[in-house]
Amino acid sequence: MAYDNVLLEEVEAGVWRLTVNRPKSLNALNSATLEEIGAAATEVGRNPGARVLLVTGSGEKAFVAGADISEMQAFTADEGHRFSERGMRAFRTLETLPIPVIAVVRGYCLGGGLELAMACDWLLAGESAALGQPEVTLGVTPGFGGSQRLPRRIGTAMAMELILTGRRIDAAEALRLGLVNHVHPDDRVMDEALVMARAIAARGSIAVRLAKSLVVRGQDLDLDNACALESQAFGLSFSTEDQKEGMAAFLARRPAAFKGR
Ligand code: CAA
Repeated sequence: MAYDNVLLEEVEAGVWRLTVNRPKSLNALNSATLEEIGAAATEVGRNPGARVLLVTGSGEKAFVAGADISEMQAFTADEGHRFSERGMRAFRTLETLPIPVIAVVRGYCLGGGLELAMACDWLLAGESAALGQPEVTLGVTPGFGGSQRLPRRIGTAMAMELILTGRRIDAAEALRLGLVNHVHPDDRVMDEALVMARAIAARGSIAVRLAKSLVVRGQDLDLDNACALESQAFGLSFSTEDQKEGMAAFLARRPAAFKGR
């Protein structure tokens, strides 16, 4: 499929990158861009060779500076509601991909931008990253899941503070809060993301998918049921060729050559 507002590319074997590409408006998310993010995520999800997806923004200044204020300005209540649902759908499509999804954040990552990043499994930040939920400064609430995903990431009290004040935080504070996993110089962060993605792509892909689904699904279960789920997945791993290869390679002191079956 052809996209006007995002770039979708396989940067190296199994490693895909989705770039929000509206640099003139700091990659602000309008309706068309939201639809394309959902469609691109679906496309990657259907590709059996996809191992990791990186999500980023084009240009030096911003990951994504939020939902598109020029589109939203004249919304009625009903239009606002539907716009929110559109974003929720797109981000949920991304969030429920079976492969790891990593946000690579440089510059402004605000409102819908932070919400997009939090629909990814984890964030890597450049030193210039500036993150926040400034919606209340515009007289609206978060609309693409920020009020729900931010507290799940950093705890209720700190999320409440950030959402109710609209305060922006820098990369160092985001790291302290556990909102980003690592901070790198801006000119290194994409390379570091690729190193990480390459490492994941070289692992047993069935095990990676199963492990991701355990973390995601287990969070909504009580510990007994979550651990039972893990036992099932662990058992299932032993029905794969990758398990035979991974353990044989370990014992033979050679690198494993996984085939994803
Ligand atoms: N929507 C639409 N356009 C945006 C935008 C947005 N969220 N953010 C930036 N732009 C546009 C600006 O209008 C400007 O366009 P023009 O050149 O045509 O005037 C261009 O991008 C560059 O922006 P600035 O000139 O403002 O750049 P700056 O360096 O002075 O400031 C900024 C950068 C601090 C990020 C500032 O642009 C800003 O505050 N942007 C809005 C951030 C925001 O409030 N985001 C939340 C939106 S609400 C939301 O996301 C709701 C939700 O949860 C669903």
